[in-house]
Amino acid sequence: MITKTPPATHLAFALAQARLQTDALFRLVRPEAFHDRAVPERHRTIFYFGHLEAFDWNLLSQATGLPSFHPEFDRLFAFGIDPESGQLPQDQRSDWPETTEVQRYNLRVRQAIDAFSDGVSEQMLSVAIEHRLMHAETFAYLLQHLSITQKDVPLVVPPPPGPTAVPTVIEIPGGTVTLGQRRTDPSGDKQFGWDNEFAGHEVSVSAFAMSKYKVTNGEYLEFVRAGAKPPHFWTWNEGQWHWRTMSGAVPLPRDWPVYVTHEEANAFAAWSGKRLPTEAEFHRAAYGTPNGEAERSYPWGDGQPDRQRGNFNGDRWDPIPVTATPLGDSAFGISQLVGNGWEWTSTVFQPFPGFQPFSFYPGYSARFFDGDHYVLKGASSRTDARLIRRSFRNWFRPNYPYAYTGFHLVED
Ligand SMILES: [Fe+2]
Repeated sequence: MITKTPPATHLAFALAQARLQTDALFRLVRPEAFHDRAVPERHRTIFYFGHLEAFDWNLLSQATGLPSFHPEFDRLFAFGIDPESGQLPQDQRSDWPETTEVQRYNLRVRQAIDAFSDGVSEQMLSVAIEHRLMHAETFAYLLQHLSITQKDVPLVVPPPPGPTAVPTVIEIPGGTVTLGQRRTDPSGDKQFGWDNEFAGHEVSVSAFAMSKYKVTNGEYLEFVRAGAKPPHFWTWNEGQWHWRTMSGAVPLPRDWPVYVTHEEANAFAAWSGKRLPTEAEFHRAAYGTPNGEAERSYPWGDGQPDRQRGNFNGDRWDPIPVTATPLGDSAFGISQLVGNGWEWTSTVFQPFPGFQPFSFYPGYSARFFDGDHYVLKGASSRTDARLIRRSFRNWFRPNYPYAYTGFHLVED
């Protein structure tokens, strides 16, 4: 018989691991660049440095009744921003405290939390862990947009080109998919999920066809040559297109997935006479099976995510060729639905039937149900394995150009 470690111990360990990850990311920012802003629509780096601990404190101390030791920082670092266009943040560098002050706050928060975390619910600890891991991903793309003089990142040589992606369209018969997840697993244990993953429910999907591969930079280049605006990750230099990797620009890798906004993905789809998949179609293509067996946990089956199956879990900074991970193909033979870049869907981010916000964090999803955010599925190179579950939903505004977001095409 296998003895199970108590969940709280697992979670305390997972929180410690997640802290190591985010600490490692902040160490890549040069000290003098902590008060710089990587992209105009987001806070300065110093905010993220304080935010992870302030979030944990604000969340986890609620049940303890402990007094705050720094209410000003608890508030200053409480929430990120996602401004509508034309409403960029106007704060000044001098509006923010010194890095050393934030460092002291962070240390004190960690010590306090570790002293009482045995008494915190598993759900709240999971929220703290996954919140931190999501920031580890979003911070990676902010880091990518800092200039090479603002960070210390190792030079990474891109992988060699993969086998050429032969454009292939795969027919997917209609079927039933499960969106979201049940509140308990088959053995009756409570399962963790964010508020927007509930309630789990079934949806039927009509037959459609999907491209085997993610749309590549090479395919998108034809669209740019036909007059479309180049994606944010591209730069024109010395007479050719380049791609901005974490450590600098390289000649445009044509077999990497193109990273684009929802608007760009839609425009490319329309130009190609195709469209983006709905969230339910994504589920059918990724987790459905041709012979009607139960839906899979992952496109490749029920085995845990590993680097043979896809480009995720922070193994690499940058993308790899769209043909590079055939072991991660779905039952229908579609490649890289999970990994190597999030997948845009045509589905507006809305609550599932039976949605209930977390009482301790009511705005987590609800403040984005504004009709101006679209659902993304799958994972990017920087998505932690813990977040790679079928029901996980990501969302961005349709014109947000900085994230690791690509797409597959579908047709009826
Ligand atoms: Fe946050």
